[in-house]
Amino acid sequence: MIHIHDLHKDFRVYRHHRGGLGALRNLVTREFQVVRAVDGVSFDIARGELVGYLGPNGAGKSTTIKILTGILVPTGGEVRVDGRVPWQQRREHVAHIGVVFGQRTSLWWDLPVVESFDLLRHIYHVPDARFTRNMAHFEELLELGPFLNTPVRNLSLGQRMRADLAAALLHDPPLLFLDEPTIGLDVVAKERIRQFIKAINRERSTTIILTTHDLGDVEKLCERVIMIDHGRTVYDGALADLRARFGGDRVLAVEFETTPEPAALAGRPLPGAQLMRVEGNRAWFRVAQANGSRGMAELMPVLFRDFRVRDVSVGEPEIEEVVRQIYEGKLLTGVDDGGQTTAS
Ligand SMILES: Nc1ncnc2c1ncn2[C@@H]1O[C@H](COP(=O)(O)OP(=O)(O)O)[C@@H](O)[C@H]1O
Ligand SMILES: [Mg+2]
Repeated sequence: MIHIHDLHKDFRVYRHHRGGLGALRNLVTREFQVVRAVDGVSFDIARGELVGYLGPNGAGKSTTIKILTGILVPTGGEVRVDGRVPWQQRREHVAHIGVVFGQRTSLWWDLPVVESFDLLRHIYHVPDARFTRNMAHFEELLELGPFLNTPVRNLSLGQRMRADLAAALLHDPPLLFLDEPTIGLDVVAKERIRQFIKAINRERSTTIILTTHDLGDVEKLCERVIMIDHGRTVYDGALADLRARFGGDRVLAVEFETTPEPAALAGRPLPGAQLMRVEGNRAWFRVAQANGSRGMAELMPVLFRDFRVRDVSVGEPEIEEVVRQIYEGKLLTGVDDGGQTTAS
C-alpha cells in the first residue's frame, strides 16, 4: 500500500541579515544552510498494518508524513501510496487518506464541531447514509455528544483530538496518518485515543501510520515499529523482536563514589558487560545472560576491584532503555572506539 525508497528531504534555511543593507544582502547573496530532515528512508507498508513511526524530536517523522500526504515534495527518492505519487496527484490522493496532526487542528476554529463535520461532508462528497452511519459510530466510540455544539476553540485538547480523529475518518479513508495524536494529553485521554485507533484498525482494516515519541502509544498499539533518528532508519521490525533481542539481558546500574570518566569506563571494559549510558556518577551496563555465560558472577569482582562503587542494582531492560540505547548507539560507539584506541 505504501512504498518508499531512498527518500530524501533537504530544507534550505536562509540566513537573514537585518537592517537596510542587510535586506540588500538578503536579496543578493541568499546564503543558506541545508537541513537534511530525511536522509535515505526506505520501507513498505501493507494494507491493514498499524505501524509506529518512532523517533526523538527532530528525527524527521513529520517531514515524512507531510511527503506521504502530499504537502511536501521530496528532494529525492521514490514514493507510491496505493499507486499514487502523493504530491503529483494531490486531489485524488487526499480523497483516499485521513490525516491528523496532533499539533494543530484541521477543524474550523470558530465553528461548533458539528458544523465543521458538515463542511467536511460537502468537501469530501460523503453520501448522506454513510455520513449518518459514521457520525453515529464515532459519537459512540469517541463520546463526542457532550461537545458537538461547542466551538472548536473552546474544546479541551483531548476533546479537540477526538473531534479531529472523527473528522479525518468521515469519508472512510483506507489509510490514516496520525502525527503525534496523543501529544500533550493526560493518561485518561491518551488511553481513550489509543483504544479508538485500535478499534478503527481492527474493525475497518484501516492502514494506520502513527508517529510518536511516546513509547506507551507504541507498546499499546503497534506490532511493527519503524524507528528513525537524524533522518535515517535505525530499526524496522516487530516490537516483540526488539524486546526479545535485549530481553534475555540484564541491566546493571552502578553508582560510583565519584563521577567516572566515560573514557575510563570504556578503556577498562568489564567482562561480559556493555556500557550503555553515563549520567554523573552513575552508569548503566548491559550484561549478557546467554546460556553458559557467567554474567554477573564474573563481572562483579572486577567491578569492585577496579572501581570505587557505592551501590549496584540489577534489572530487566525497560523498552525505554532499549530505545534510548538505539538512539544513543552512535554516541556510545564513539566512546567505545576512543577507549579501544587508547588501550591498544
Ligand atoms: N519547513 C522547514 N524548514 C526548515 N527546517 C525544517 C522544516 N521542517 C522541519 N525542519 C527540520 O527538519 C528536521 C526534522 O523535522 P521534523 O520532521 O519536524 O521532525 P520530527 O517530526 O521527527 O520531530 C528538524 O531538524 C527540523 O528542524
Ligand atoms: Mg513532528
